[in-house]
Amino acid sequence: MLNWDDYNQEESSAVTAPEPAVVAAAAAAQQVAETPAAPAAAATDTTTPEPATAAMQAAEAAIANMDASAGEEELEMGAARISVDEKAMINCRADLNQLVPFKYDWAWQKYLDGCANHWMPQEINMTADVATWKSKEGLTDDERRIVMRSLGYFSTADSLVANNLVLGIYRLVTNPECRQYLLRQAFEEAIHTHAYQYCIESLGMDEGEVFNMYREVPSVAKKAAWSISHTHELSDPNFSTGTIEADQQLLRNLIGFYGVTEGIFFYCGFTQILSMGRRNKMTGVAEQFQYILRDESMHLNFGIDVINQIKLENPHLWTEEFKEEVTQMILEGTALEIEYARDTMPRGVLGMNAAMMEEYLHFIANRRLTQLGLTEQFPGATNPFPWMSEIMDLRKEKNFFETRVIEYQTGGALSWD
Ligand SMILES: [Fe+2]
Ligand SMILES: [Fe+2]
Repeated sequence: MLNWDDYNQEESSAVTAPEPAVVAAAAAAQQVAETPAAPAAAATDTTTPEPATAAMQAAEAAIANMDASAGEEELEMGAARISVDEKAMINCRADLNQLVPFKYDWAWQKYLDGCANHWMPQEINMTADVATWKSKEGLTDDERRIVMRSLGYFSTADSLVANNLVLGIYRLVTNPECRQYLLRQAFEEAIHTHAYQYCIESLGMDEGEVFNMYREVPSVAKKAAWSISHTHELSDPNFSTGTIEADQQLLRNLIGFYGVTEGIFFYCGFTQILSMGRRNKMTGVAEQFQYILRDESMHLNFGIDVINQIKLENPHLWTEEFKEEVTQMILEGTALEIEYARDTMPRGVLGMNAAMMEEYLHFIANRRLTQLGLTEQFPGATNPFPWMSEIMDLRKEKNFFETRVIEYQTGGALSWD
């Protein structure tokens, strides 16, 4: 199939070494131009416009008539300037093209924070990981299983997340500053998928096995299936909000997306890989996960803010019955993640085991419930991995594993001379 590179090559080769057909066509054109009665002579007639000029005249005529066209109605020419009070999280009828005046400063601030934490997967050195992965003594079977399962789950989960963001949440959240953050988040999800692919490729893993794990390994497949079924409306182009039922359905999807998928399903895998890095194994993969976790904790906090703001603006949606349903969703997500922990840790590994992870997930579930204004379901649960919180808050200047100091800079500087 012809692609852009082939096209460019063909273009340049046509210049340096013309095909016989091109040579023949050029000769024919010259012959026509030299014939006095040929139509080409019309080009010298100044009264007949060049084709490009004629098209430009038509374009100018179209622009001249624009102020009477249907576009005026869509733009609401001369309408009153937008005020902060007109902005709303969902079902907003105010102009969505005007970023300012800001109503939700927290969304804009998160956009700025996300940009300040920019990173790319290729910046991270994977050499030591490749040697460890290829050596028979590098990792135990249990450790290898953890690396495979993590890449298997996350490599497809982040694509699913990106689809929900771009196809659903962006359309249904009717506020420009939140959409600005969503655009940043969408790019970060692309970077995460890139990072997983970069790890899979560097380590020479069987790509078919890794990318199909979400359909073939039960503990991975169950999480993916739960996420898909609880974010169904986000990917339905015919879904729209505006009724109590539909608005509640959007909230359900947002909680399934941010609260459970990004808020619970990522935590066992992240903890396992980061624990591996702390033990000086697979430090490149761990460093990738470390940056991803920092992004994800911001995604989660943004999502919680979005959900709580929708609740605040639409208190009629947050009924006692609905609160019970949301609590149940958090508990289901927790149960699935505990099942994943048991599957990936049949015995103790990396200084942790499934029972410790269960305690951690109870702690995480309590946190999600209180963030959403709901009652904790696991009173007294404690955090057996306090170092996870430190990693989430990590500033970009200092790398946790101290393999390098990271300061992101743009790759190419423009020169104007
Ligand atoms: Fe992600
Ligand atoms: Fe995310």
